[in-house]
Formats: sequence, C-alpha cells, structure tokens
Amino acid sequence: MIALGCDHGGFALMQEVKKLLDKKGMAYRDFGTDSEASTDYPIYAKRVGKAIQSGECENGILICGTGIGISITANKMKGIRCALCHDVFSAEATRLHNDSNVLAMGGRVVGAGLALKIVETFLSTPFSGEERHQRRIAQMESEAN
Ligand code: RB5
Repeated sequence: MIALGCDHGGFALMQEVKKLLDKKGMAYRDFGTDSEASTDYPIYAKRVGKAIQSGECENGILICGTGIGISITANKMKGIRCALCHDVFSAEATRLHNDSNVLAMGGRVVGAGLALKIVETFLSTPFSGEERHQRRIAQMESEAN
C-alpha cells in the first residue's frame, strides 16, 4: 500500500500520480489534501509518515509546491527516509543506496511527464541491500557518531 499526501501546491500533480497508479493497478491510500484550497503541508507529511511508521503503508509519495517543506517535515519522523527527487537518476539512486521509503516532489517544479517517470523509477527500484548502504542507513538512526 502506497501512502499519498499533498498540499494545494501538489494537488494537480498528485491527480496525475493517482491516474498512473490506477493504470498500473497499484494500491494506495490518499491522505489528502482534496482540493487546491490553501492548506498546510505538514499535516499531510505527518499523516503519510504515521501510516508508514504503523506498517499500514510500505512507502509513500508526498507533493507540495517545491517538495521542500513536505520532505523536511517527513524526515523529522523516526524511520522515515524521504527523498526529494526531480530527476530519474536520483530516484533510482535513493532507492538503491538509501532505501528511501518516501518520494517527495514539487508540483511547481516538475511537469507531469518527468514526475511520472520519477514515480515509476522510485517504485520499481529495489534497495541494493549492500552492506555499506545498510551500515550508513543504520548510522542515520543512531545517536552515536
Ligand atoms: C505553499 O505555498 C508552499 O509553500 C508549499 O507548497 C511548499 O512549496 C513548501 O515547501
């Protein structure tokens, strides 16, 4: 299950993402927002982060105007590794190296054509599982240096 969240700045692009997921038959839960009316992106970042923390969803997609505020918020949550990607190379690399569980994008930054390629790449690329990457991910969560 994929958790989806966006603010007004990401609403239009999220509708395109949902069409793609529907076409691919991929299950998702939409945590809002549900219109282009102005709202606060932390609400949706936290809903998506909590759905992943609880195990209800395996991963998520967050979209605000820039992708910045919504990704900063998500990354304050334990166990959330949110990658702000506006290119396909980064979307692939963050899955391989960081085992990112949330993709963030800016609806005012990328067009739908590129964004959907980024989504497809993020969702289809597995974590490499390599020891050095596992070690570095463990270091992210650790209090030690
Ligand atoms: C909303 O105007 C905008 O600030 C928000 O979508 C996002 O870009 C924040 O980082």
